[in-house]
Amino acid sequence: MKKILTAGIGIMAILAITYSSSLSSSQAMSSNDSTDFEYEYYYTDSYENEDSNMSVYTKYNDTVKDYENTADEYNLSRCIDTDPNSITVLINKEYSLPSSYIPKGLIVPDIDFYGGGNEEKKYMRKEAADAISEMFKDAASCGEYLYGVSGYRSYSRQATIYDKNVRQRGSAATNMVSAIPGHSEHQTGLAIDISCKELMGLLSESFADTSEGKWVQKNCHKYGFIVRYPKNKEKITGYSYEPWHIRYVGTEVSTYLHDNDITLEEYYDYKPGEITDSNIISDAATAEDLSEEK
Ligand code: DAL
Ligand code: ZN
Repeated sequence: MKKILTAGIGIMAILAITYSSSLSSSQAMSSNDSTDFEYEYYYTDSYENEDSNMSVYTKYNDTVKDYENTADEYNLSRCIDTDPNSITVLINKEYSLPSSYIPKGLIVPDIDFYGGGNEEKKYMRKEAADAISEMFKDAASCGEYLYGVSGYRSYSRQATIYDKNVRQRGSAATNMVSAIPGHSEHQTGLAIDISCKELMGLLSESFADTSEGKWVQKNCHKYGFIVRYPKNKEKITGYSYEPWHIRYVGTEVSTYLHDNDITLEEYYDYKPGEITDSNIISDAATAEDLSEEK
């Protein structure tokens, strides 16, 4: 009887240990998911979500004071570039592209991507594609192997991604990492998300701690790129630190921003404000550009 009792207690103990370890591994999985989630998803719902729009601008307007201080410090007064075809166009939570905008001359850069096929996200504008190809080649010659994850995104694909993120993370978390359609630099064909083998193509803040991420931070300006959403500039850009998202602006501007440790918003002395018609880059101009393409 004593033996049976001892065996019973033993089995119960084993079951308890198994249950508790399976619980902690599933918790670890979900916490990894929230840090390292990919921003590439498909789904079909509309992105028009009043609640999410509110949380973008409520959060952003809280930051006006800090922003003004920064602008004063640099005493900058450049005109904000709103030409969608310009490599220095400002796209952010306030300045947007029309849904019909598709950049001209998209090509696939000569780099390795995570994921096969030849889909939309592998394209970039020629200027940016040439620069990223050169940058990845030079990085490899220094022993740093970079991979493309997501370049050009159409308006509708951004809607798909944004909506999926809202569904999975909620509006507030999404608005810190994912742009509302029309407000993503990926639609310009000038931005690309990059990663490395160690992260298996994930877009994670820990990219900054990898040797590849450090190389990018130190060198990308030499090729005309900027880390568009830097650390400690969240209140200015409106987005969390994204060491993986680089944007082509040309070497003159990228070197200036790098040397002065400022964002594109600071460069333009941009202060978050009300949304007006003039913030939305004209559909007429883009329609003309598109017809030239046909
Ligand atoms: N992750 C950046 C902000 C985008 O969605 O364009
Ligand atoms: Zn990105």
